[in-house]
Amino acid sequence: MKTFISSWKSPSNIALVKYWGKKPNAVQIPANASISFTLSNCATTTKLTYTEHESLAVKVLLDGNEEPSFVEKIEQFISRIAHILPFTSTGIYLIETSNSFPHSSGIASSASGMSALALCICDIAVEKGELTENNFKRTASELARLGSGSASRSVFGPMGEWGLHHDYAGSSDQFAIAYDDIHPIFSDFCDTILLVHKGQKTVSSTVGHGLLDNNPYVEARFAQAGENMTKMKAILKSGDIDAFIKLVESEALTLHSLMMSSDPYFILMKPETLRLIEAIWAKREKDGFKWCFTLDAGANIHFLYPQSDKQAAHAFISNELAQYCENGAYLHDEVGVGAVKI
Ligand code: PMV
Repeated sequence: MKTFISSWKSPSNIALVKYWGKKPNAVQIPANASISFTLSNCATTTKLTYTEHESLAVKVLLDGNEEPSFVEKIEQFISRIAHILPFTSTGIYLIETSNSFPHSSGIASSASGMSALALCICDIAVEKGELTENNFKRTASELARLGSGSASRSVFGPMGEWGLHHDYAGSSDQFAIAYDDIHPIFSDFCDTILLVHKGQKTVSSTVGHGLLDNNPYVEARFAQAGENMTKMKAILKSGDIDAFIKLVESEALTLHSLMMSSDPYFILMKPETLRLIEAIWAKREKDGFKWCFTLDAGANIHFLYPQSDKQAAHAFISNELAQYCENGAYLHDEVGVGAVKI
């Protein structure tokens, strides 16, 4: 009975071209490719203490407190990864985890959490001689994907690309790849997450992906996402900020329009989400700043702006945007390097 310990800090990420919808009859295979900025400050730190044992036992501590509600999701995750790393299907897992941001706030805690855990497991696999260093990040991303699709991208910075796409060399539906063929303006781009609604989401992304099945617009959407990946590649390379703004905002609104056209339909935006969008648009119109927004599967706004505009953007946030945030709360973040071992 040997015990192994590993700790990783893994960030959240924010998709620019969104993953929304899975391929049928497969486990966590995306209907379209996606690409995201890997964040820096919004992260999950996880320490895994794994003890060999003939049966499976999972205990999760969130900020030091036992969190039984996480166990089922982790057990499902373990059952999904067992074909890749067979040793994982048994053993005693003590998972001590903490987030730098509120749980289920619409910030992808599943992305940072699942990628952090996947990395810890891969570390232990290396120590046990069941994984080589060469395949480490790729396997970690594949494992993370089986926990939460978007988690596959969090392993890598400054950007992660997930899903087979002819314009992205080495891309795969099984795991994400690091993407760094980007103009310097994007390598330290800023993202302030404006916390509109910190409570639990009414519809989880797992349910949301499934509701797409009866959506009449999906085929057009999947084709559009593929085209947008092509456009995004060129934009990221050239630094064409106007084209960036147009594509990123369109992707965000398309994601939410897919939710509104699902059966049953649902809305994750709140009135303040729209107030914030209007305020950002008005500012852009008035002062010409190259600032924009995106959304993930929640009400919060990700306010995106270049590093060179940081001071002006921060003033705008505290003077004009904070009033629409729940308790005036927001989190400053920026593009980061990806997950790090602790
Ligand atoms: O990884 P999931 O199943 O939580 O889905 C995430 C979906 C979006 O955040 C809305 C988009 C994306 O690509 O991250």
